Amino acid sequence: MSIQIKLDAPALLASVAAKTAAARTLLARIAADFSPSVFANSLGAEDMVLTDMIVGDTLEIETFSLDTGRLPLETYDLIAEVKKHYGLALKLYYPRHDLIETYTRQNGINAFYESVELRKGCCHARKVEPLQRALSGKKAWITGMRAQQSATRDGLPLRAFDEGNGLEKFNPLAEWTEMEVWAYIKLNKVPYNALHDKFYPSIGCAPCTRAITPGEDVRSGRWWWENPESKECGLHVRKA
Ligand code: ADX
Ligand code: SF4
Repeated sequence: MSIQIKLDAPALLASVAAKTAAARTLLARIAADFSPSVFANSLGAEDMVLTDMIVGDTLEIETFSLDTGRLPLETYDLIAEVKKHYGLALKLYYPRHDLIETYTRQNGINAFYESVELRKGCCHARKVEPLQRALSGKKAWITGMRAQQSATRDGLPLRAFDEGNGLEKFNPLAEWTEMEVWAYIKLNKVPYNALHDKFYPSIGCAPCTRAITPGEDVRSGRWWWENPESKECGLHVRKA
């Protein structure tokens, strides 16, 4: 959620400044050395930080979003706001209609609640397959993931070769804290998803995301009916 930040705390300001400089340097290097590169933008808080940096530094990195067809209204509003605020039209990728038609006819419209297998099947058709098209022919992709977001992201590197998709993968905010993300957003007046102010720290598809109570894990509102170990949608598969 949009957490309360003391923007005059010297230690916080110093760490945000240092990490911002490092992230911008890395992004510039990716743009120069890994062209064509792309940034996967879910419109979450971290991705808005990266959007602000990429647009601010006019880097040649294409920004895309996977429109699953089940996103919350607030996320669509933010896509429109990004166009207004930054003049940036996100490149939107959609699921293949034949895959969705088959899936929903066979399993039902909300089958993801029934089993991990059916949930992953929906994520595959709505996210993973479109992601593969978005990454096709690219040398690197960039995400807004942070190591502290969940057990599945512990030890997340800044850079690693993504063997599944066959290109370099960068996580420039891997070492950022949630506090630093929000300090950047507030300091730079970055637009953000209205759901963050309603206790949604992590936002995905509407039926698979809910509000959390303060103190809960930041990703506890995602696929809340599943165990923490299964809570990845297949976009970010890591080798064991
Ligand atoms: S995930 O489990 O949905 O992948 P999360 O919402 O924490 O997790 O997103 C992690 C990163 O995956 C984001 O910073 C972004 O780079 C990418 N991502 C997730 N969802 C989308 C989306 N709909 N469109 C583009 N990128 C996405
Ligand atoms: Fe389907 Fe939910 Fe995955 Fe979105 S997050 S693709 S609705 S299972």
